[in-house]
Amino acid sequence: MPQVNIGLIGFGTVGTGMVEILINNRQLIEDRLGAEIVLKKIADLDIGSDRGVKIDPTVLTTDAMEIVNDPDIDVVVELVGGCDQAMEYVLMAMERGKHVVTANKALIAKHGKHLFETAEQHNVDIAFEASVAGGIPIIRALREGLSANQIKGILAILNGTSNYILTRMTDEGLSFDEALSIAKRSGYAEVDPTLDIDGSDAAHKLTIIVSLAFGLPCRYEDIFKEGIDMVCPEDIRFAGEFGYCIKLLAIAREVDGHIEARVHPAFVPLDHILANVNEAYNAIYVEGDFVGPTLFYGLGAGKRPTGSAVVSDLMDIARNQIKGITRRVSPLSFVRLPAKELSLKPMDQLITEYYFRFSALDRPGVLSKISGILGANNISIASVIQKGRAGHGSVPVVILTHEAKENDVRKSLELLDKLDVVTEKTVLYRVEKKTGI
Ligand code: HSE
Repeated sequence: MPQVNIGLIGFGTVGTGMVEILINNRQLIEDRLGAEIVLKKIADLDIGSDRGVKIDPTVLTTDAMEIVNDPDIDVVVELVGGCDQAMEYVLMAMERGKHVVTANKALIAKHGKHLFETAEQHNVDIAFEASVAGGIPIIRALREGLSANQIKGILAILNGTSNYILTRMTDEGLSFDEALSIAKRSGYAEVDPTLDIDGSDAAHKLTIIVSLAFGLPCRYEDIFKEGIDMVCPEDIRFAGEFGYCIKLLAIAREVDGHIEARVHPAFVPLDHILANVNEAYNAIYVEGDFVGPTLFYGLGAGKRPTGSAVVSDLMDIARNQIKGITRRVSPLSFVRLPAKELSLKPMDQLITEYYFRFSALDRPGVLSKISGILGANNISIASVIQKGRAGHGSVPVVILTHEAKENDVRKSLELLDKLDVVTEKTVLYRVEKKTGI
């Protein structure tokens, strides 16, 4: 039987998942491939810990260069994480004619262009299914399954940690800090959860999705992002009163020849399919011009789901190798980039509906001052809730708007927050529509 030799650099959670699948489903994988995937070497600084998987100890090494320089290794699996060392290993592997599989979203989002050019130059495959949404095969779906479609837009929940925290806040009325502590205790948040809660992780993934969906090689730095750390239970309650929940959304849409690409907490209508994606689950809603709406749902993290994605890439590359081909599908599925004249829409040009929560003194004329400034900046009010006062302090005045331009919104909030009747910085959320993309 033909043999494909692989080397794994980084024997952490995902690496362990990959090894587990290769062992547990060995027969099934061989039956599907007609080839054997042989794990020749594993490099990690820690080769002493028991990961609960049976491996021959002689495959372990602390020197990743043993893998990079081994002429018998066909595919290098990079699961080191971070950008610096991972980048070096991946480039060196490709320069030596080895294919690469990586789960490293930051690496692809920040250095994709250079990596894909290097892969082309050395005629090797680079595969990264595990970099977006863990076990959900969204990369393959965009690259192949949906490749005949013009993608109209994508709405996605791409960060399981944030979704878990928001679910706890919504279901139990907890504060952000309380929900984060539970997420840490239950293993859903890392000790340092910054990249998950500030929107960076979702923005890395959206960068990759935008490139695949629209053929627009976009840079991570160009994606607008806001995290969930400012979400508070009061806004979740008001959202519910208006018929919405709050989710950390990654949004990409083609609007008049421009691509909107943004990550932020957003109001999602309770009857939207994404409103029911809870706990640590991810989901990606994709609309294509011919296929219509599609939904991809599953676990976006964890050793088994992410390991499953890594092994699917290994199997793809093994199939190529058996047939004696490489690069059957180019990494972003576009041979010519940019596919058409598209550019990222500047965030201040965004047009959407908004939610504002003002903290205002409960005095005659306050509402008319607020609505006057909004009206003067082309912002039309759709609904208002003002709660009665318990004492004589400030009260929340909550407003949903019709479609407005982000630039006008920012200008009016700057003016409104200077009013003596507005006592705290106004809270803003962008609101998703009831139907479609
Ligand atoms: N930390 C990510 C999440 C998973 O919480 O979804 C890995 O990308």
